[in-house]
Amino acid sequence: MKNIVILISGTGSNMAAIVRAAEQQDWAGHLNARVAAVISNRADAGGLAFAHEHGIATQVLDHKAFANREAFDTQLAQAIDGYTPALVVLAGFMRILTPGFVAHYAGRLVNIHPSLLPAFPGLHTHQRAIEAGCRFAGCTVHQVTAELDVGPIVEQAVVPVLAGDTAEQLAARVLTQEHLIYPRAVARLLS
Ligand code: GAR
Repeated sequence: MKNIVILISGTGSNMAAIVRAAEQQDWAGHLNARVAAVISNRADAGGLAFAHEHGIATQVLDHKAFANREAFDTQLAQAIDGYTPALVVLAGFMRILTPGFVAHYAGRLVNIHPSLLPAFPGLHTHQRAIEAGCRFAGCTVHQVTAELDVGPIVEQAVVPVLAGDTAEQLAARVLTQEHLIYPRAVARLLS
Protein backbone atom coordinates (compact mmCIF):
# COMPACT_ATOMS: atom_id res chain seq x y z
CA MET A 1 0.00 0.00 0.00
CA LYS A 2 1.26 3.47 -0.84
CA ASN A 3 2.20 5.99 1.85
CA ILE A 4 0.97 9.57 2.05
CA VAL A 5 2.53 12.27 4.23
CA ILE A 6 0.33 15.27 5.01
CA LEU A 7 1.71 18.68 6.05
CA ILE A 8 -0.51 21.02 8.09
CA SER A 9 -0.23 24.31 9.98
CA GLY A 10 -3.66 24.58 11.61
CA THR A 11 -7.07 22.94 12.02
CA GLY A 12 -6.33 20.17 9.57
CA SER A 13 -9.90 19.59 8.41
CA ASN A 14 -8.68 18.70 4.90
CA MET A 15 -6.17 16.29 6.42
CA ALA A 16 -9.04 14.75 8.44
CA ALA A 17 -11.11 14.33 5.27
CA ILE A 18 -8.23 12.45 3.60
CA VAL A 19 -7.60 10.31 6.70
CA ARG A 20 -11.29 9.35 6.79
CA ALA A 21 -11.24 8.48 3.09
CA ALA A 22 -8.15 6.31 3.62
CA GLU A 23 -9.86 4.56 6.55
CA GLN A 24 -12.94 3.68 4.48
CA GLN A 25 -11.75 0.87 2.28
CA ASP A 26 -15.13 0.82 0.51
CA TRP A 27 -15.04 4.55 -0.20
CA ALA A 28 -15.93 5.16 -3.83
CA GLY A 29 -12.67 7.00 -4.48
CA HIS A 30 -10.58 3.89 -3.60
CA LEU A 31 -7.80 5.80 -1.91
CA ASN A 32 -5.89 2.54 -1.34
CA ALA A 33 -3.16 4.31 0.62
CA ARG A 34 -2.28 4.92 4.22
CA VAL A 35 -1.59 8.25 5.83
CA ALA A 36 1.83 7.41 7.27
CA ALA A 37 2.47 10.73 9.02
CA VAL A 38 1.14 14.21 9.66
CA ILE A 39 3.82 16.86 10.06
CA SER A 40 3.19 20.41 11.26
CA ASN A 41 5.38 23.50 11.45
CA ARG A 42 3.31 24.61 14.46
CA ALA A 43 3.06 22.73 17.76
CA ASP A 44 -0.42 24.23 18.34
CA ALA A 45 -1.91 22.93 15.07
CA GLY A 46 -5.31 21.52 16.04
CA GLY A 47 -5.08 18.74 13.47
CA LEU A 48 -2.24 17.00 15.33
CA ALA A 49 -4.64 15.66 17.98
CA PHE A 50 -6.97 14.22 15.33
CA ALA A 51 -4.05 12.46 13.60
CA HIS A 52 -2.77 11.07 16.90
CA GLU A 53 -6.24 9.77 17.81
CA HIS A 54 -6.33 7.99 14.46
CA GLY A 55 -3.05 6.19 15.14
CA ILE A 56 -1.02 8.29 12.72
CA ALA A 57 2.56 9.31 13.48
CA THR A 58 2.81 13.05 14.11
CA GLN A 59 5.80 15.33 14.12
CA VAL A 60 6.34 19.04 14.75
CA LEU A 61 9.12 20.96 13.05
CA ASP A 62 9.01 24.55 14.22
CA HIS A 63 10.19 26.72 11.34
CA LYS A 64 11.22 29.44 13.83
CA ALA A 65 13.96 27.16 15.13
CA PHE A 66 15.80 27.27 11.79
CA ALA A 67 18.15 29.93 10.47
CA ASN A 68 16.52 30.12 7.04
CA ARG A 69 14.03 28.48 4.67
CA GLU A 70 16.65 26.16 3.18
CA ALA A 71 17.60 24.76 6.59
CA PHE A 72 13.94 24.20 7.51
CA ASP A 73 13.09 22.58 4.17
CA THR A 74 16.13 20.28 4.34
CA GLN A 75 15.05 19.01 7.75
CA LEU A 76 11.43 18.76 6.62
CA ALA A 77 12.40 16.68 3.57
CA GLN A 78 14.43 14.37 5.80
CA ALA A 79 11.43 13.84 8.08
CA ILE A 80 9.11 13.23 5.12
CA ASP A 81 11.47 10.86 3.30
CA GLY A 82 11.59 8.61 6.37
CA TYR A 83 8.07 7.54 5.34
CA THR A 84 8.91 7.01 1.62
CA PRO A 85 5.69 8.68 0.48
CA ALA A 86 4.17 8.25 -2.96
CA LEU A 87 2.48 11.62 -2.40
CA VAL A 88 3.15 14.61 -0.14
CA VAL A 89 -0.07 16.48 0.57
CA LEU A 90 -0.12 20.14 1.65
CA ALA A 91 -3.31 20.70 3.64
CA GLY A 92 -3.36 24.23 4.98
CA PHE A 93 0.45 24.19 5.25
CA MET A 94 1.19 27.90 5.40
CA ARG A 95 4.86 27.94 4.42
CA ILE A 96 6.44 29.00 1.15
CA LEU A 97 8.62 26.12 0.01
CA THR A 98 12.09 26.50 -1.52
CA PRO A 99 12.68 25.54 -5.18
CA GLY A 100 15.01 22.75 -4.01
CA PHE A 101 12.27 21.20 -1.86
CA VAL A 102 9.70 21.45 -4.65
CA ALA A 103 12.12 19.88 -7.16
CA HIS A 104 12.87 17.01 -4.77
CA TYR A 105 9.13 16.10 -4.77
CA ALA A 106 8.44 16.89 -8.42
CA GLY A 107 5.28 15.11 -9.52
CA ARG A 108 4.34 13.96 -6.01
CA LEU A 109 3.60 17.24 -4.22
CA VAL A 110 0.02 18.54 -4.17
CA ASN A 111 -1.74 21.51 -2.57
CA ILE A 112 -5.26 22.78 -2.01
CA HIS A 113 -5.90 26.49 -2.41
CA PRO A 114 -9.14 28.27 -1.41
CA SER A 115 -9.84 30.02 -4.72
CA LEU A 116 -10.53 29.20 -8.35
CA LEU A 117 -6.94 29.45 -9.56
CA PRO A 118 -5.51 31.22 -11.45
CA ALA A 119 -7.73 33.81 -9.73
CA PHE A 120 -6.59 34.96 -6.30
CA PRO A 121 -3.31 33.22 -5.54
CA GLY A 122 -1.86 34.08 -2.12
CA LEU A 123 -3.73 35.05 1.01
CA HIS A 124 -7.19 36.49 1.92
CA THR A 125 -8.78 34.80 -1.09
CA HIS A 126 -12.39 34.99 0.14
CA GLN A 127 -12.28 38.67 1.06
CA ARG A 128 -10.68 39.46 -2.29
CA ALA A 129 -13.34 37.46 -4.20
CA ILE A 130 -16.12 39.34 -2.36
CA GLU A 131 -14.47 42.73 -2.97
CA ALA A 132 -14.00 41.91 -6.66
CA GLY A 133 -17.74 41.28 -6.94
CA CYS A 134 -17.31 37.62 -7.96
CA ARG A 135 -20.55 35.68 -8.29
CA PHE A 136 -18.68 32.40 -7.86
CA ALA A 137 -15.76 31.27 -5.75
CA GLY A 138 -14.27 27.89 -5.01
CA CYS A 139 -11.19 25.82 -4.42
CA THR A 140 -8.43 24.23 -6.46
CA VAL A 141 -6.25 21.16 -5.97
CA HIS A 142 -3.05 21.62 -7.92
CA GLN A 143 0.36 20.10 -8.30
CA VAL A 144 3.03 22.20 -6.67
CA THR A 145 5.68 23.88 -8.77
CA ALA A 146 8.31 26.45 -7.81
CA GLU A 147 5.92 29.37 -8.39
CA LEU A 148 3.36 29.90 -5.60
CA ASP A 149 -0.19 28.61 -6.34
CA VAL A 150 0.52 28.09 -10.04
CA GLY A 151 1.04 24.35 -10.78
CA PRO A 152 -1.18 22.16 -13.00
CA ILE A 153 -4.79 21.96 -11.82
CA VAL A 154 -6.02 18.53 -10.67
CA GLU A 155 -9.55 19.31 -9.39
CA GLN A 156 -11.75 22.34 -8.77
CA ALA A 157 -15.12 22.97 -7.14
CA VAL A 158 -17.33 26.03 -7.47
CA VAL A 159 -19.67 27.64 -4.92
CA PRO A 160 -21.88 30.72 -5.27
CA VAL A 161 -20.98 33.98 -3.55
CA LEU A 162 -24.23 35.07 -1.89
CA ALA A 163 -25.35 38.65 -1.32
CA GLY A 164 -24.03 39.90 2.01
CA ASP A 165 -21.54 37.05 2.41
CA THR A 166 -18.74 37.65 4.88
CA ALA A 167 -15.32 36.15 4.18
CA GLU A 168 -16.01 33.67 6.98
CA GLN A 169 -19.32 32.54 5.49
CA LEU A 170 -17.77 32.12 2.07
CA ALA A 171 -14.76 30.28 3.53
CA ALA A 172 -17.06 27.79 5.26
CA ARG A 173 -18.99 27.14 2.04
CA VAL A 174 -15.75 26.61 0.13
CA LEU A 175 -14.30 24.38 2.85
CA THR A 176 -17.15 21.85 2.57
CA GLN A 177 -16.20 21.48 -1.11
CA GLU A 178 -12.49 21.20 -0.26
CA HIS A 179 -13.31 18.16 1.88
CA LEU A 180 -14.98 16.51 -1.12
CA ILE A 181 -12.45 17.24 -3.85
CA TYR A 182 -9.19 16.75 -1.94
CA PRO A 183 -9.63 13.03 -1.12
CA ARG A 184 -10.86 12.48 -4.68
CA ALA A 185 -7.85 14.29 -6.17
CA VAL A 186 -5.44 12.38 -3.92
CA ALA A 187 -7.03 9.08 -5.04
CA ARG A 188 -6.67 10.12 -8.66
CA LEU A 189 -3.03 11.13 -8.29
CA LEU A 190 -2.21 7.83 -6.57
CA SER A 191 -3.94 5.64 -9.14
C1 GAR B 1 -8.06 25.60 3.65
O1 GAR B 1 -9.11 26.46 3.31
C2 GAR B 1 -7.01 25.58 2.57
O2 GAR B 1 -7.53 25.69 1.28
C3 GAR B 1 -6.22 26.82 2.94
O3 GAR B 1 -6.16 26.82 4.34
C4 GAR B 1 -7.30 26.17 4.86
C5 GAR B 1 -6.83 25.07 5.79
O4 GAR B 1 -7.90 24.49 6.46
N1 GAR B 1 -4.93 26.79 2.35
C6 GAR B 1 -4.26 27.86 1.97
O5 GAR B 1 -4.68 28.98 2.12
C7 GAR B 1 -2.91 27.58 1.33
N2 GAR B 1 -2.36 28.76 0.78
P1 GAR B 1 -7.71 23.12 7.22
O6 GAR B 1 -6.48 23.27 8.11
O7 GAR B 1 -8.96 22.98 8.05
O8 GAR B 1 -7.54 22.04 6.20
